[in-house]
Amino acid sequence: MHRYLDCNATYPQLKVSLEAMVEAANAAPGNPSSLHWAGRAARRIVDDARDKLAAFIGAEAGGIVYTSGGTEANNIAIHSVLSTSKPGRIVTTAIEHPAILKPLETFASANPEWELIKLRPNGDGVVTAESMAAAINEETRLVCLMYANNESGAVQPVEAVAALCRKASIPMLVDAVQMLGKKAVRFNDLGIDFMSLSAHKIGGPKGVGALLVRRGVKLTELAPGGGQERGRRSGTENVPGIAGFSAALGKVDFSTCEAVRNLFEAELGKRLPRAEVVSLQASRTPNTSLVILPGLDGETLLMQLDLAGFAVASGSACSSGKREPSHVLLAMGVSELKARSSLRVSFGPDNSSDDALALVEALVSADKRLKGMAGITA
Ligand SMILES: Cc1ncc(COP(=O)(O)O)c(C=O)c1O
Repeated sequence: MHRYLDCNATYPQLKVSLEAMVEAANAAPGNPSSLHWAGRAARRIVDDARDKLAAFIGAEAGGIVYTSGGTEANNIAIHSVLSTSKPGRIVTTAIEHPAILKPLETFASANPEWELIKLRPNGDGVVTAESMAAAINEETRLVCLMYANNESGAVQPVEAVAALCRKASIPMLVDAVQMLGKKAVRFNDLGIDFMSLSAHKIGGPKGVGALLVRRGVKLTELAPGGGQERGRRSGTENVPGIAGFSAALGKVDFSTCEAVRNLFEAELGKRLPRAEVVSLQASRTPNTSLVILPGLDGETLLMQLDLAGFAVASGSACSSGKREPSHVLLAMGVSELKARSSLRVSFGPDNSSDDALALVEALVSADKRLKGMAGITA
């Protein structure tokens, strides 16, 4: 039996989203930039999707730039700010997704006159607003803070940091990829300059996302070309992808996962008392559980669970194939050994209590087997 418990990596595309893609491809064969009927039909699909997303997220339609996903949205915002600012300080956190950390680190190492500050979280996996306030100074040119962490689910103090940045007129980029659909997100209310979103985390297609840009903020293109998206992101729009993103909006209700997630953690605590739940004291996205199982290797566990039909993640979230220990756990002060013993379970509303209990059962069996292989009896 196959059980999918890796919804933070991607949420299986919804049927309504797939159907919307097929319909868009059939009904609107033209290029949205073409003036004829076929182009106008495609343009209408993109415009309607933009209006719907704007209403959904509390943004202005004119501030939505469709992209190939969260990674590109982050890169566009980062490039735009850093390529047009005088050298100064960039403030971010050590627990951001590589789609933030990599572009910032690459930029900072090529431009040593810039200072990159990566703040560490507290033991609950939260970077406090106080530590952000202490790091932001007059030289700060950009602040990047994720809304919710992809590995632990810990929600970060975005509202408080946004208020700080607004007061100091510092551009702020919020990576909201893991927050969308899980808790309320209102772009305009935050008063920030940029927010990144991705369709495939909410049941939309992979390879589509959006960058939200505050009114009045000028965007410098990352890949210049035909000037689509009001000259902010060139390239013919992914019309079926945008339609599929739009159709998925609001369709997956992650709030219902909380009871199943809590059951999993409670049962695991009973059956394997040495298991530790990461960020338990923090406000978390309702579907996410990051657990440390001391003495077990996360990768080995992942393979054993895979054989038993469970799709879960170990350590680093979006690229579950790699062997480095989770940078999020290391930043939280967890030892490398323990960080290698982590497992991320991310539920979706289709998961039942049965899935949660079956996973605990599988973990208990794996624990027995792996201990047996290591010759441990107690
Ligand atoms: C927090 C976060 N940001 C960015 C991304 C990248 O988004 P995409 O896969 O759409 O490029 C992901 C996951 O993939 C993520 O979890």
